[in-house]
Amino acid sequence: MTTATQRNLLLRKILFAAVLALVALSIVLAAREKRTWNIPDGAKQRKNPLQPSAAGLQAVRDLYMENCAQCHGATGKGDGPEATMYDPLPADLSNRPFNAGLTDGEIFYQISEGKKPMPAFKRRFTEDQRWQLVFLVRSFAAPPPAAAAPVKK
Ligand code: HEC
Repeated sequence: MTTATQRNLLLRKILFAAVLALVALSIVLAAREKRTWNIPDGAKQRKNPLQPSAAGLQAVRDLYMENCAQCHGATGKGDGPEATMYDPLPADLSNRPFNAGLTDGEIFYQISEGKKPMPAFKRRFTEDQRWQLVFLVRSFAAPPPAAAAPVKK
């Protein structure tokens, strides 16, 4: 082999490796894109204007069962009857770290705007209904009463 063809071969190998790296990078980025919500700062900082109440939670539970439970499941675990039809899978709303890591404003925004395959609910529900849903989402992650109180033997 002449040095020219050798150099040519090396160049092609480098090019091939670069293309592979680019393909791998775009797959990783696409996967990450699916999981990130781009929530504007102003929306993050919004505070829930309502006070949590048992009556409010009870009222919004019906909305949840009709509009969210098919994906997120009756207890928010992300195990609704239609859940497996979607990619990404519906989020586990009972996941405590997830819940603790989000502000009320962020959850409100997520419910309002949706993100494929989750629909947007800002036209379907009033602001108050969406803020009540924020309380409900939070309640899914609350520790069960049995875990909160030590069991006496
Ligand atoms: C068609 C199925 C579907 C329905 C109906 C649906 N969701 Fe979702 N939801 C999803 C999916 C899928 C995600 C995850 C999206 C992502 O992370 O890219 C999600 C994410 C969320 C998140 C964000 C969780 C996180 O990890 O940040 C919240 C909060 C939420 N949904 C609440 C609701 C509420 C409340 C309703 C009803 C008003 C609802 N969803 C209805 C599919 C659904």
